[in-house]
Amino acid sequence: MTACIVGWSHGKFGKLDGETSESLIVKAASEAIAHAGIEPKDVDVIYVGNMNGGFVRQEFHSSLPLQTHPDLRFKPSTRVENACATGSAAIHMGLNTLAAKKARFVLVVGVEKMTELNSAQAGEVLIKASYVAEEANIEAGFAGIFGKITSAYFQRYGDKSDALAKIAVKAHKNGAKNPFAHFQKEFAYEFCRTPSDKNPFVAGPLKRTDCSPVTDGAAAVVLTDVGTALGMKQAIAFRAAQHVNDFLPMSKRDIIKFEGPALAWKQALAEAHLDLLDLSFVESHDCFTSAELIEYEAMGLTAPGEGERAIHEGWVERDGKLPVNVSGGLKAKGHPVGATGVSMHVMTAMQLNGSAPEGMQLSKAKMGGVFNMGGAAVANYVSILEPLR
Ligand code: COA
Repeated sequence: MTACIVGWSHGKFGKLDGETSESLIVKAASEAIAHAGIEPKDVDVIYVGNMNGGFVRQEFHSSLPLQTHPDLRFKPSTRVENACATGSAAIHMGLNTLAAKKARFVLVVGVEKMTELNSAQAGEVLIKASYVAEEANIEAGFAGIFGKITSAYFQRYGDKSDALAKIAVKAHKNGAKNPFAHFQKEFAYEFCRTPSDKNPFVAGPLKRTDCSPVTDGAAAVVLTDVGTALGMKQAIAFRAAQHVNDFLPMSKRDIIKFEGPALAWKQALAEAHLDLLDLSFVESHDCFTSAELIEYEAMGLTAPGEGERAIHEGWVERDGKLPVNVSGGLKAKGHPVGATGVSMHVMTAMQLNGSAPEGMQLSKAKMGGVFNMGGAAVANYVSILEPLR
């Protein structure tokens, strides 16, 4: 155990008209610093997780947290990017900085302002996180990539549309209890299962309700070393933090095996000296419902091809043996790309310190896992968190 989250903040996710990435960063940074009970001058290093790449004209984000307070002027700050795992990548930079003893307090802000573009335009930006030489002409943006993955999975293991619809229902049921979520309403199984005008096919077997939405939002954490954390108001420790990158081209991999995510989980559980079911809950990267299905297999909850058991048998419901995405996940909470990894850590920290919103809080939250994924199982980050005391 080397570092802790000692402060956090999370804004409402959604279509936030009138907000800019700057306003979102400033709010998230100031609230996380206040929550940690430190002063802006105490922050030594800043990382900003932002994928950007054309969602907004303002591409250079690293100094925007300095707008929060004059005492942040001249602090070293860097923008970090690793596709949809950008938020976790920024947190890992913070962990590395603490491990190198180059800072006492690190501020990490994740942000994305996506809704200035419509869904098709946002898809054009997101597809740049594929292997462009071979995959960029797939239709429907990044949904097209997961449409292909889902079709390949169905070809090998059979049509799992029932399981995907149930995963969507679970996400929205949980998201309805999360005031930070983009969508806060339940969706009926029949609606998610049946193609309709309101739920059309988007790519391959994926319907609209199988996709995470295009969302604006920001979240932030303050990190410090364990010694310092012992004297702080709240402290959630990293029992493990692992990062595994796989080849970018899908053609170089068996894409429905999610080998990078599986290795990241294996390494994290080994580092933590835990079995998967020692975790009280997991926040997992459900950019599409089929991603969550395959992630059940990658984390070791089921054998390959049997991921549907986890949802059909209720294991991943909030009262199941391993609740997955009690926050509503990316599917209901939203997926503002650069903010997502930070958001997952904040949701987990809230659960572990008993301060999650009413209705979302689990009664037994002792140890939480986070899996954040960039690209199609390319940049894979697993964190295992527990209260320091
Ligand atoms: N799930 C459920 N409902 C959704 C939704 C989603 N993902 N996205 C939009 N909606 C709802 C809207 O709230 C709206 O509802 P209303 O009519 O009651 O107001 C309706 O669907 C139409 O919204 P719109 O934005 O016009 O839909 P769209 O068809 O343009 O976009 C997607 C839907 C799924 C194509 C879009 O959200 C998308 O591209 N998602 C994937 C984003 C992505 O690739 N992220 C990176 C992952 S790695």
